[in-house]
Amino acid sequence: MDSPRSIGARALAALLPDLGQLPGPRYRALSTAVATLLLDGRVAPGVRLPSERDLAAVLQLSRSTATAAYQQLTEDGLLVRRRGSGSYLRLPVGSRVSGPGGRLNRQDEGVNVLDLSIAAMPTLPGVLEAAATRALRQLSQHTGDIGYQPYGISALRERVARRYTDRGVCTDADQILVTNGAQHALDLLLRLQLHPGDRVVTELPTYPGALDAIRSHGGRVVAVPFGPDGRWDAAALRNALLQTSPRLAFLIPDFNNPTGALIGDDQRHELLAAARGSGTTVIADESFIDLDLREHNPRGSGAADSTGTPIERPMPMAAIDDGVVSIGSLSKPIWGGLRIGWIRTDPDTVSRLAMIRARSDMGGSVLDQLVADEALADMDSIAARRRAELIVKRDALLSELGARLPAWQPSYPAGGLSTWVTLDAPGATPLTHLLEQRGVLLTPGSRFAVDGTLERYLRIPFALPPAQLATAVERMAQAWADLGPRQVRRPSGALVPA
Ligand SMILES: Cc1ncc(COP(=O)(O)O)c(C=O)c1O
Repeated sequence: MDSPRSIGARALAALLPDLGQLPGPRYRALSTAVATLLLDGRVAPGVRLPSERDLAAVLQLSRSTATAAYQQLTEDGLLVRRRGSGSYLRLPVGSRVSGPGGRLNRQDEGVNVLDLSIAAMPTLPGVLEAAATRALRQLSQHTGDIGYQPYGISALRERVARRYTDRGVCTDADQILVTNGAQHALDLLLRLQLHPGDRVVTELPTYPGALDAIRSHGGRVVAVPFGPDGRWDAAALRNALLQTSPRLAFLIPDFNNPTGALIGDDQRHELLAAARGSGTTVIADESFIDLDLREHNPRGSGAADSTGTPIERPMPMAAIDDGVVSIGSLSKPIWGGLRIGWIRTDPDTVSRLAMIRARSDMGGSVLDQLVADEALADMDSIAARRRAELIVKRDALLSELGARLPAWQPSYPAGGLSTWVTLDAPGATPLTHLLEQRGVLLTPGSRFAVDGTLERYLRIPFALPPAQLATAVERMAQAWADLGPRQVRRPSGALVPA
């Protein structure tokens, strides 16, 4: 991860809580607070801390208090002291999580396993059957053609373009490339636009599949934490753009995975102005755009308040700046097994992307695209059913968490499929290891960062039925209690499996 290599005493002091409010001796409060900044991803591993003398002066502590705090961090395995060069933060051994998490490697789980490792759901009953029946009727119109369609079939490109235009982003079909899902879309864009060593700004936390893709193309991630209020930290994003001049920014403004945050208009404008200034191409992943859970509109076509008045949606990023590249997908609102997504960009870039994709898969399945086109024709009512179902599940999960794990702080997601939980102590990785043995699969917060931080966080999707969510939370509460305060509260101990 690319980040500043040192932090000054004043900058560090600005991130620290009021040490007088923390329990125990003052040196312990300081070491715990610095450890929390590291494990929560607010200060990156490898960063050099200010000298003990400078920090003591800014915090108005005695020098011996700062020295004892640094000593404690060293004993906890979180600080390396190099003679003549300074003190550097580091993660304790064993904290890195690598490879795709969740169930990607697990094909034959027993029926009792509760899988909350992926934010995705089965399709709604009947939806695909109906779309496939209609698609079969269209098939004969296509089988006279050779069937290789690297851009995607025109009916689907036209329908996707119309949906953008309806959302206020004027779009022609030649601006759409149909892909095998959003992950494929991102991979193609990275292949076209990223050179090894280029920087890519992302949110922190962000979707692990994007981090994997950026790294596999040799990109360097500049991860910018959300602000404490769960919104973009616009100033931090602007600074990251202006200071590192990244080639790309990968953002999930409409219901971030994992936090569920929806980013407002002002921040979108601010960010896009900064991106223009730094010459950065912004990729907006809108995979969750149809899962707006702010209120359910029983009449069908979008979020609305209890009187049926539509709730304002922030402007699409591409409506603010036509240079934004948008990614969409049917995986979340309809079904991941369909493998249909798309890219919206300028026609010239679409042609170059089509050439690249033809080299690897020649084009997507025509039959699947026909099914997708038919399903999209019903998208408003399908998405309304999805939202109604998800609101019930979200509320059930949040109420179970409140009842059984009141010290945890789940986000209240405006949309999407998961809540991002702040645990009362670091230890998400040992918790997920223990839960795996007890039949609950979860992804620890560290998968949503590049460097093993975010150990105090856990993503919990609410894709399962409420009764299964209740069982999963019951097992989480038991496992968290069994891990015990000693292991989870000491920063270094947090990462030792129970
Ligand atoms: C933000 C985001 N983008 C892309 C994907 C991958 O989606 P697809 O199935 O369309 O490839 C996911 C899956 O979880 C996601 O959360």
